[in-house]
Amino acid sequence: MRLKSYELATQDIASVDVEALHALSLGVEWPHRPGDWDAFRSLGHGIVAQDEIGRVFGSAMWFPHGEECATIGMVITTPRVQAQGGGRWMMDRILQQCGDRRLILNSTRAAYRLYVALGFVPQATVSQHQGYATPWAAPVLGPDPAVEAIAPAGLGEVAALDAAAFGAARPRLMAHLAGTAEIRGLRRDGRLVGYGMRRAFGRGTVIGPVVAESEADAVALVASLLTGLDGRFVRLDTRQPPGLLRSFLESAGLALFDTTKTLTRGAPLPVVEPGRPGIYGLTAHALS
Ligand SMILES: CC(C)(COP(=O)(O)OP(=O)(O)OC[C@H]1O[C@@H](n2cnc3c(N)ncnc32)[C@H](O)[C@@H]1OP(=O)(O)O)[C@@H](O)C(=O)NCCC(=O)NCCS
Repeated sequence: MRLKSYELATQDIASVDVEALHALSLGVEWPHRPGDWDAFRSLGHGIVAQDEIGRVFGSAMWFPHGEECATIGMVITTPRVQAQGGGRWMMDRILQQCGDRRLILNSTRAAYRLYVALGFVPQATVSQHQGYATPWAAPVLGPDPAVEAIAPAGLGEVAALDAAAFGAARPRLMAHLAGTAEIRGLRRDGRLVGYGMRRAFGRGTVIGPVVAESEADAVALVASLLTGLDGRFVRLDTRQPPGLLRSFLESAGLALFDTTKTLTRGAPLPVVEPGRPGIYGLTAHALS
């Protein structure tokens, strides 16, 4: 494809130097570190748009969650060639690779028109809360004694709860997070009713995924995961409307920074309602 004076072809994203991908995301002011790109590449597939001398002008990725579902992310066109059809060109290829899986993605304002034109349907607003964590002045709830650390050996129970909330099993993601994240669980009457993770990502620490059966349980998990992070940069993305969880995040120094929209193609997003497992904190925009 020709974009301005550049002749571009797609290549497998696995073949590219991570520094070229890092430069691409820095160019659109995204916080990903090279290690975050490598983690995404170990979890999914994708393409880059490259010119004849190997310069990278764009990227797009997809992440299979079993045979029926996938998330799409890391869709970037470098600013000097935006609005020339490059985003659409890469997305057409990614959609082909995804086959007939149902799809979930989180869209920035810049990408919204593109995704709607490709048949994606808006489902929810994602609120990105972040900031330097402070001791919560007036916690809505304190850390719940029922919150416990979960060792990697407990992953089976966590993965089952995650699948119930997400609507599909995410075995590859769960295995990856077991090796890189700290995991806390919330148990009631011996049954795991919630879990949350924290890991290094972007500018600091990301708390997510968070799965719970109520906002109060999500707060208990997040409160526990914030322990020891005072003064550190922390981010949590949630689809919850204003309420207990988001008030708690604000009180802990994680202010609302930006919003994106979740769109799906092929099936609606599972609802989050009290009494059944739901996603209260996203893993990452690209992974939902
Ligand atoms: C979103 C992005 C990938 C689109 O790439 P692109 O190469 O400009 O896309 P295209 O040229 O194929 O344009 C696709 C559509 O988006 C529209 N568009 C492009 N940039 C836009 C912007 N900044 N604001 C609103 N619409 C925009 C185009 O007009 C086009 O719509 P049309 O077909 O109705 O005319 C690119 O703007 C980008 O990298 N932005 C920063 C990172 C980002 O937000 N990524 C999306 C993550 S979900």
